[in-house]
Amino acid sequence: MDIRKAKFIKGIVDGNEYLEEDKLQIAFIGRSNVGKSSLINSLTKQKDLARTSSFPGRTQQINVFLINDSHYFMDLPGYGFTRLPGKEHRQLIDLINSYLFESPYQQKKVVLIIDANVGLTENDVVMLRSLEEQRKDIVIVANKIDKIKKSDYTKQLKKIQAAVGDHKLIFYSSEKRIGAKDLLNEF
Ligand code: GTP
Ligand code: MG
Repeated sequence: MDIRKAKFIKGIVDGNEYLEEDKLQIAFIGRSNVGKSSLINSLTKQKDLARTSSFPGRTQQINVFLINDSHYFMDLPGYGFTRLPGKEHRQLIDLINSYLFESPYQQKKVVLIIDANVGLTENDVVMLRSLEEQRKDIVIVANKIDKIKKSDYTKQLKKIQAAVGDHKLIFYSSEKRIGAKDLLNEF
């Protein structure tokens, strides 16, 4: 797809909240601080559309953006941020799970974002298996490739490729907008 316009619609705190059913939903999920919100900004070329922060746990609800009057980009909170108080972390996990696995919505695509410098973590694998079990249409994005040390670059990319197996994988940088065209082609 080609993004002509993008605007914030609302933040939801219940995965079952009403959303217009004629819009195709694209969900952006991943660990806290991997760059989900930054990635949405890079795709839409609007650097302040989704709020970002160097502090993990920035996004605390599901922020819904309307793209071209036809798609919803769903910016989810991150999982795996253990410095949040237990109850708050639990609530975020419940929100993510209710939206992805218990709501009436079938996403057109679920974009699982990982940190290219870290690779697939245990939490990422748990999420990936749940998505597979529910037969979601998945694309994995390894973000922040601009931060990989030059000497580690090839080795690190190969490691990630091996870990994700047969899934579609896109190497990405929100900072430098590398991979945006490939990812937009998936929607
Ligand atoms: P939560 O909402 O807390 O789950 O985080 P998030 O996944 O939405 O991450 P966010 O977009 O807020 O970005 C986290 C930090 O990573 C910010 O400091 C961003 O500037 C930085 N960041 C995001 N993408 C990139 C990238 O491609 N390259 C580099 N170098 N930094 C990035
Ligand atoms: Mg965020």
